[in-house]
Amino acid sequence: MAVLPIHLLGSPVLREQSATIDSADNNTRELVADLFETMDAAEGVGLAANQVGIARRVAVVGLDDDRFVLINPVVLESDGKDTAEEGCLSIPDIYADVTRCTSIVVEALDVDGKRQRIEADGLKARVIQHEIDHLDGLLFLDRLSPFKRRVLTKRWKKSGNDTPNHLLDVTPASKTSG
Ligand code: NI
Repeated sequence: MAVLPIHLLGSPVLREQSATIDSADNNTRELVADLFETMDAAEGVGLAANQVGIARRVAVVGLDDDRFVLINPVVLESDGKDTAEEGCLSIPDIYADVTRCTSIVVEALDVDGKRQRIEADGLKARVIQHEIDHLDGLLFLDRLSPFKRRVLTKRWKKSGNDTPNHLLDVTPASKTSG
């Protein structure tokens, strides 16, 4: 297991449509373990594989004791609209109110390749939608009005985080969210 560098806004892999995985194999197992370790080190609540440079449809979620992996997730049902503040490990120190579905039903494979059905609402539903967006090459900035997006992109470029290699070496001291 390893804590991996996190790709930041500007890294092309964050904009890729991630590839579906055929089945849970040892590579996937190792990737999932690394994702959990990296998410925990960065004190996030979710992390998608392309955020560590691997464009495959795998993400992990960790909300206190509720920790699970999403492999090839598909949203089966969604309901309601809810707006709350979000951040992203790939865009440190930038936050915005994002509107998403209040509740969702998702089907995904777990690390053993077993199909699981997850019903979620509130923060859990929000984090899952945020991670599935990552797998489709979307960031929470894309969910904002063009004006708000411009303001935050400008703020990002002025922040010290917009480095040429678009990589963040995670240390347990750094702190952000999804
Ligand atoms: Ni994110």
